[in-house]
Amino acid sequence: MSETSPAAVVILAAGEGKRMKSRTPKVLHALCGRTLLGHALAAADELDPGQLVVVVGHGREQVSAEAASVAPQARIVRQDQQLGTGHAVRMVTESIGVVPGTVVVSYADMPLLRSETLRELVDRHHQAGNAVTVLTARGDAAGYGRIVRDPGGEFLRIVEERDATEAERAIDEYNSGCYAFDGTLLADAIKRVTTDNDQHQEYLTDVVAILRADGHRVGTLLAVDAGEITGVNDRVQLSEARRELNDRILDGWMRAGVTIIDPASTWIDVTVTIGQDAEIGPQTQLQGATVIGEGARIGPDCLLEDTSVGEDAVVSHAVCRRTEIGPRATVGPFAYLRPGTVLAEGAHVGAHVELKKAYVGPGAKVPHLTYVGDATIGAGANIGAGTIFANYDGRAKNHTTVGEHAFVGSNTVLVAPVTVGDGAYTAAGSAITDEVPAGDLGVARGRQHNSDGWTARNRPGSRSAEAAKRVRSDDSL
Ligand code: UD1
Ligand code: CA
Repeated sequence: MSETSPAAVVILAAGEGKRMKSRTPKVLHALCGRTLLGHALAAADELDPGQLVVVVGHGREQVSAEAASVAPQARIVRQDQQLGTGHAVRMVTESIGVVPGTVVVSYADMPLLRSETLRELVDRHHQAGNAVTVLTARGDAAGYGRIVRDPGGEFLRIVEERDATEAERAIDEYNSGCYAFDGTLLADAIKRVTTDNDQHQEYLTDVVAILRADGHRVGTLLAVDAGEITGVNDRVQLSEARRELNDRILDGWMRAGVTIIDPASTWIDVTVTIGQDAEIGPQTQLQGATVIGEGARIGPDCLLEDTSVGEDAVVSHAVCRRTEIGPRATVGPFAYLRPGTVLAEGAHVGAHVELKKAYVGPGAKVPHLTYVGDATIGAGANIGAGTIFANYDGRAKNHTTVGEHAFVGSNTVLVAPVTVGDGAYTAAGSAITDEVPAGDLGVARGRQHNSDGWTARNRPGSRSAEAAKRVRSDDSL
């Protein structure tokens, strides 16, 4: 906890979010790799607060579970009935007691709020010695609480739109819903909030007027970018916030030396990292814990989830989930890499190839039309077109091992469990059920037999018979 760290950050997340029209609680909807709540917790965590508190109500179990998984240190406070923002904060002080020091209160539905802005709010609060500092913005204030000032410009109170006079509604400075409080003064004032308003709720905003009436200093910080404090209430706003956040993430990577060919069709989660001189092609999504190495080229048309890509690797038209792609490996076009796949340095996976729990050794190639499941492929091996690793016998998944520099002929079926030894070959079209020892050729198919003159006898007068006749010299036909 640094000197300017707040004693606590409280995130209000008890509301229902009716306008999402969803079975999922609003704050669990996701954008750019985190839920709304996840973004709020991440921003709060950057402040290094003494305590992190989440107030839950609607969808309590799911919301608590998400909070626990994203921020295990967070304390969960229940608000069983949503009787207002003031009531929510009262539940916190009643449950965890007075928190001396600075207490930041924010919402779980403002994913664009930067931690830098929260940090500035805390700094302003300390420098001014305020009892409360309110983050405000200017612009279209419709729906927001208005910041009421005296003729000298001194901050007096916050009035909700539904309780405001016409003159107050004309005010263009509004309340973000984000505050820094003196925790001791907050715990006392929150008890004195009434429900004397249009909604008969306990309004957190009333604490400002109470503290001021007690003779304490109250202040504001005007957000430079009003867009940061827009909340997400429905799915239209969710998509707008996603676009905005994505633009921010892409700008950051481009400024860090990453080429992004088409930002409009590229989506990168906030949790992804990308090395310098990587190039991201159009229609590409990078998700979760994905890591892209320096100079790698990804796209067009890629979806990478929790996947690491080594330096200078090339991946195009591919879907990769929980896979590791080594340096200088090449993947695609049209490849599907499923969880547990590891491609070593310089390995090649080509067109219409699917891999699952497969290790492909350094420089090994799986170039065309192949399924590889539960397998180890040694360095420099070549897997012929159309090879199928038959890993499933209807009951269990079985493993196949292909040795170093082995050569699997086209259209081989490797019936697992089976081994093809180092430097061994399999004949094209073989169904390999037994080990092929190192250096051997495995042939497992019927021998070819030609029935002499079959066409003339069985398809007399056909075009095939005519064609054959032109090149055959025997007059028996
Ligand atoms: C609130 C502010 C308003 C401000 C606006 C900014 C009050 C009285 N008004 O209004 O001045 O301009 O936010 O968006 O505070 N919540 C709970 N428990 C409750 C009620 C709300 O956890 O009992 C949570 C909600 O989940 C939500 C947030 O608090 O995330 C804000 O609640 P909401 O009802 O949307 O407040 P507004 O009416 O928008
Ligand atoms: Ca609201």
